[in-house]
Amino acid sequence: MLDIGIDKIGFYAPHLYLDMTKLAASRNVDPDKFTIGIGQEKMAVTPVTQDSVTLAANAAWEILDDADKETIDFVIFGTETGVDSSKSAAVYVHELLGLNPYARAIEVKQACYGATAGIQMAKGHIAMNPDSKVLVLGSDIARYGLNTPGEATQGAGAVALLISAEPNIMALEDQSVYFTADIMDFWRPVYSDKAFADGKLSNEQYIAFFSEIWSQYKAKSGLGLKDFEAITFHLPYTKMGKKALKPVLGETTEEVQERLKTNYQTSTEYNRSVGNIYTGSLYLSLLSLIEQANAFPAGSRIGMYSYGSGAVGEFFTGLLQNGYKEHLHIKQHDDLFASRKEVTVPEYETIFEETLPTDGSEVAFDVQDDPATICLAGVADHKRRYVNKKK
Ligand code: HMG
Repeated sequence: MLDIGIDKIGFYAPHLYLDMTKLAASRNVDPDKFTIGIGQEKMAVTPVTQDSVTLAANAAWEILDDADKETIDFVIFGTETGVDSSKSAAVYVHELLGLNPYARAIEVKQACYGATAGIQMAKGHIAMNPDSKVLVLGSDIARYGLNTPGEATQGAGAVALLISAEPNIMALEDQSVYFTADIMDFWRPVYSDKAFADGKLSNEQYIAFFSEIWSQYKAKSGLGLKDFEAITFHLPYTKMGKKALKPVLGETTEEVQERLKTNYQTSTEYNRSVGNIYTGSLYLSLLSLIEQANAFPAGSRIGMYSYGSGAVGEFFTGLLQNGYKEHLHIKQHDDLFASRKEVTVPEYETIFEETLPTDGSEVAFDVQDDPATICLAGVADHKRRYVNKKK
């Protein structure tokens, strides 16, 4: 049987962030509510020179070599904050990265579930075409609005996953359980650049979906918590996965519970400093786990719970590959976090309100202030102008 899975993982977040304790002070909220109750320390703030296309392109740029660029024949872009209702964000990224023109490039949408759908599609494509590689992107900017209950769970960033046969990081297993139900827990009408959420309902449904899917998964696979080194979660905020995991922990021994709790904590480190990145959040959590924990033995099983409001959920699993640590970009990610610049609350509010023209007028940005390799340089003739400073 051909192993198919994650060969490389890249990550990018904007270079600006807001300290959650300062946001709390300005909103007259106890800072512990944000740092403990919600579990967020920093929130990525997106300058106008970045959008979901550039975030994804920057995440992929750091991991792809020339051979990958030649071999990738499918780009799947999971996003719910795309930049065009017709043209897929994947086509822009395809050009910005200089990929082989004999490729498919599409966008996939189902709230935070998009990238997971992309991974499953990629797996099927590689099963049919074992020599090909698929670039799956999960990129979003989470916006709820200033002074809203969702504000503390905003964020922005992208994860790029190279899916191939005989992968270096993780082989995906075939068993998975997925579930759909029509629920208005979170949505964003086409006329709004901010999401609407029924916060309480969304929390309840996230947990209810996990409970349902996990029961089905156990029945189908015959596996239980003891068979997992870690379970990673879609993390709209870092307390959320904990709320879903807690009710099922009683199914196993104290020792396994401790292992899962410790590894859950490690899997939240990056997300705690970035916020919700919607489609990429689960994979940012996976990345946090495998980059920040000591090396797990080859063959360790990691569970992944994907949840996209509306809603679709899926639980699937992967086995870590021998020597996977050598294929991670830990130093780059440490540098990315260390080089970010803090903004004040008033600066964040100004940046939040600075949106692109919607009336066709032209705008040009100075991309030198943005350290990213790939930036949005402006809009003219209703077209976004992107620049790759290294191409
Ligand atoms: P809220 O009403 O501001 O907060 O909304 P709360 O009153 O529910 O408090 C939050 C937690 O802080 C509670 O803990 C409080 O007890 C605690 P919990 O009971 O839940 O364990 N707390 C404190 N802790 C310590 N010290 C204190 C203190 N005060 C309170 N002083 C909410 C929070 C997350 C609902 C809001 O931010 C929101 O609506 N966010 C957006 C929706 C969301 O993220 N939903 C998550 C599930 S849906 C999902 O994951 C999909 C999504 O990613 C979208 C997609 O799929 O595309 C969102």
